[in-house]
Amino acid sequence: MNFEELEKKYQKLGIPTPKKEMIKTKEQIEGIRQAGIINTKVLDYIEQHIHPGMSTEDIEQMVSSKTKEYGGICAPLNYEGFPKSVCTSINDQVCHGIPDVHTILKNGDIINVDCTTIYKGYYADASRTFLIGNVDAEAKRLVQVSKECLDLAVSYIKPFSRLRDIGYVIEKHAKENGFSVVHEVGGHGVGIEFHEDPFIYHYGQKNTGMVLFPGMVFTIEPMINEGSRHVFLDAENNWTIYTDDGGWSSQFEYTVLITETGIEILAH
Ligand code: MF3
Ligand code: CO
Ligand code: CO
Repeated sequence: MNFEELEKKYQKLGIPTPKKEMIKTKEQIEGIRQAGIINTKVLDYIEQHIHPGMSTEDIEQMVSSKTKEYGGICAPLNYEGFPKSVCTSINDQVCHGIPDVHTILKNGDIINVDCTTIYKGYYADASRTFLIGNVDAEAKRLVQVSKECLDLAVSYIKPFSRLRDIGYVIEKHAKENGFSVVHEVGGHGVGIEFHEDPFIYHYGQKNTGMVLFPGMVFTIEPMINEGSRHVFLDAENNWTIYTDDGGWSSQFEYTVLITETGIEILAH
């Protein structure tokens, strides 16, 4: 069935459908796939070189130089005024941490490194949370569960799944483990621009929301908190988001493609 036929079928059933612009062409998908390969190589490089005693500015330098070396451009730099090439979010920082020379990684920290690469105009976006040295058991469990939340969502959804199934699976697994899910920041369509529609919720009710059509490309990037789900924005830099209660937060992000038969991870 083509797009118009699918649209008609689901609209008859009263199920919201994606906008035509949300469906990528073969050529666009190939470009995003290439951007994703670079982005994944950059995160692999960081994973091998991150260590206690380095600054988040050191991560900035590695991401910036490796992305260039692999033929890409760092999307965050100057994006809506963001001052650096990568987001580095430590411990109670939920996301959008800004690298700087004074922030030194300590034994026992957890840090999310979030990279977005542009290649031939196409975007891919992914992040991982790394353990620095010896991390205590509870923080390790938080990081493990946040990864499981993402992987469970990816293995649960198929073409023609409903969008809110993603959040349903994530929230269920987080809660079963005594953790909470941040509501204010979500995943997003990605590929032609950094942030596109639709907004991808990391919480909610199954069997609701729009139907996912083959050709959709978006991120899933749940932020899982140890304590309260509530967060606040850094009033000085207007970017960094922290947990309200000072509990730690962990995140992993993939860029995924809905295919005719399943789901393909384009960046991880
Ligand atoms: N990479 C983040 C995301 O997953 C967005 C960062 S915006 C920036 O959507 F400007 F802070 F880079
Ligand atoms: Co993203
Ligand atoms: Co990201």
